[in-house]
Amino acid sequence: MPIRVENNGQTFHLKNDYMSYVMTVEKEKYLTHRYWGRAIASFNGSRQLQMIDRGFATNPFADDRQFSLNSLPLETSTSQNGDHRIPNYVIRNANQHIVTDFVFTDYEIYNGKPDIDGLPSLEARDDEVTTLAIRLVDQTQGLVMILHYHLFEKLPVVTRRVTFENLSDKTVHIENAGSLQVDIASVDYDFLTLDGSHTDEATINRTRLRSGIQKIESRRGTSSPQHQPFIALLETSTTEFSGEVRAFHLVYSGNFQAQVEVEQYGSTRVQLGINAEEFSWQLTGGSRFETPEAVMVFASDGLNDMSQTFHQLYQNHLCPEPFRKQERPVVLNTWEANYFDITEAKCEALATKAAEIGIELFVLDDGWFGHRQDDTTSLGDWFDNREKLPNGIKGISEMVHRKGMKFGLWFEPEMISKNSQLYQKHPDWALQVKQYEPTEGRRQLVLDLGNIAVQDYLIEMLTTHLRTGSLDYVKWDMNRHLTDIGSLNFPSQQQGEVAHRYVTGLYHILNTITHNFPSVLFENCSSGGGRFDPGMMRYMAQNWTSDNTDALCRAKIQTGFSLLYPPIMMAAHVSDIPNHQVGRITSLETRADIAMGGNFGYELDLTQCDELTLALITAQIETYKAQRDLFQFGKFYRLMPIGPFFETAWLFANETDAIIIYFNGLARPAVPVKYLPLRYLDQTATYRLVGTNDVYTASELNFSGITIPRIKDDFKTLRVHFKKC
Ligand code: DGJ
Repeated sequence: MPIRVENNGQTFHLKNDYMSYVMTVEKEKYLTHRYWGRAIASFNGSRQLQMIDRGFATNPFADDRQFSLNSLPLETSTSQNGDHRIPNYVIRNANQHIVTDFVFTDYEIYNGKPDIDGLPSLEARDDEVTTLAIRLVDQTQGLVMILHYHLFEKLPVVTRRVTFENLSDKTVHIENAGSLQVDIASVDYDFLTLDGSHTDEATINRTRLRSGIQKIESRRGTSSPQHQPFIALLETSTTEFSGEVRAFHLVYSGNFQAQVEVEQYGSTRVQLGINAEEFSWQLTGGSRFETPEAVMVFASDGLNDMSQTFHQLYQNHLCPEPFRKQERPVVLNTWEANYFDITEAKCEALATKAAEIGIELFVLDDGWFGHRQDDTTSLGDWFDNREKLPNGIKGISEMVHRKGMKFGLWFEPEMISKNSQLYQKHPDWALQVKQYEPTEGRRQLVLDLGNIAVQDYLIEMLTTHLRTGSLDYVKWDMNRHLTDIGSLNFPSQQQGEVAHRYVTGLYHILNTITHNFPSVLFENCSSGGGRFDPGMMRYMAQNWTSDNTDALCRAKIQTGFSLLYPPIMMAAHVSDIPNHQVGRITSLETRADIAMGGNFGYELDLTQCDELTLALITAQIETYKAQRDLFQFGKFYRLMPIGPFFETAWLFANETDAIIIYFNGLARPAVPVKYLPLRYLDQTATYRLVGTNDVYTASELNFSGITIPRIKDDFKTLRVHFKKC
């Protein structure tokens, strides 16, 4: 039984082969956290809760001065009840008070995990997950809180979420709806986050935990390129290859908070959920509210171990089902080739070259609709620009299909240009606050996706294009953050819901469209990796990783995102030089090697390439296709942390092959001697170095390693290929 209930229903032990998670009910009332780590055979309380009469402590049982919520490791908590640490929930009643008294009442255990109403969540068969649902009740106000724990059988993963229910006839407001809280009995950790900005996403930041609150968050309306909704606690000695990691990731695409509090008596509280700032939800009598799901991963063998778990979890339980095992095509995207300057003739010339060199998917990016000549106009006017494309999207699609390629189209559905017919007709559809002019960003406003009329309009518009354009692929872009977060469609007491309703409205549209067009490949994009989160990846199988296509920058960005996402979820294109974002010149070989670390494609004007370049590109595409299964479905490991000179090394390994991509970054004069242990090859096998007759045992390659030769040049890659004998 993966979830054991012992001690007369007072101890819950969630256990699989890799991990244990233990909770107990104290005083028949409070749900406490007792252990989360390597699997233990049983839990009999050898680590007792420490009850000490502390200064400033308050006591729910006045006589018991040792029992205080302020030092108890709690699975959920609020403010003003005696626990002064960060709360996981806050509910305000009509008297404006936030005190509650939730008491453990009962629990339920069942196989599988249900979908969450209106929100994306990980998907698993009944034999893959066991669920524990613990019910807490506040009798005074008639409120119920259900803490859901979903234990995966074959992975060191438990996911959590909360349901709030109002059984009374009085309206309350939820002002903080956390998805998880856990109190870990140590403070000796490093705090790991993925941070960045537009064109510089996913920098790995690691700092020592210190006293007090450490927090990352988004208040931008999307998960944002600034912070991934992810934090991890690492033992201070943890590396890529060894040591314990406790990781937390939120399946949500809007404002979030992810925080830890190192408290006074040596424990660390972790809390994750919707950002409580600028959030309020009216919970009327008889209604319920579901929080997003939060993922908890335990790893005992370093960050690579953690990444293996996330990669398997997300590819097998999050990625839309039709794409879990489906190969991804090699892409040619028109953006960096033509930007807005597209015509039918240019598309045809580009598509002709693309088909000749082996491209499988031709993607027409921004600029094809309305009167779009630049980014100041036409978002919302999703009709063909007949001046540019006399035969419309249908004509382009037929032309591309005739050449034997798939056809994909760019949209930015969530936006509206002031300079558009849609805005003339529906100025009320933009997010806005009465009496104020909404703020433009990239000369565009954001549609109020919480409005059902807007949702219906977008579903209909996309459905028409998917049909008439026979689209095989959609790039779904989103290029500004939310401001003026008000809706003309909701009453004043619900304005605090608008940001969350935006996200659930978006999920509704995505759910409907991807359900109706299950074979269309959707690529998520928010100026690159600006909304690359597990919420979006439930609907879209891949993400445009960054608007930065420079090889050196991409090596860092893709390495960062690889902590959580497998390479098959990250689109990566070879672009022109000098690179359009940073001006750097790198070789075509280097650009291709780094792009092969993701879903491979090109984004440059092939009609301007000379014959030699086209021949090289053709060969690169052939190489990629020959190894596509390895790159897209093999295991991915980081063989070194990114060094100060941007050196990095990736390993792709499957049953038959192993490819190492080493990137030297900046050359150094006094270069140290370098041996690279491959660490993760199948220990029982021998491998031949492709192109030679040299055969090595895996143990030699794993432990002794291969030599990295001296490279007297910047930005060079080495691609080393071993075949299992
Ligand atoms: C931002 C995207 O990330 C780019 O790839 C491109 O699609 C532009 N938007 C188009 O406006």
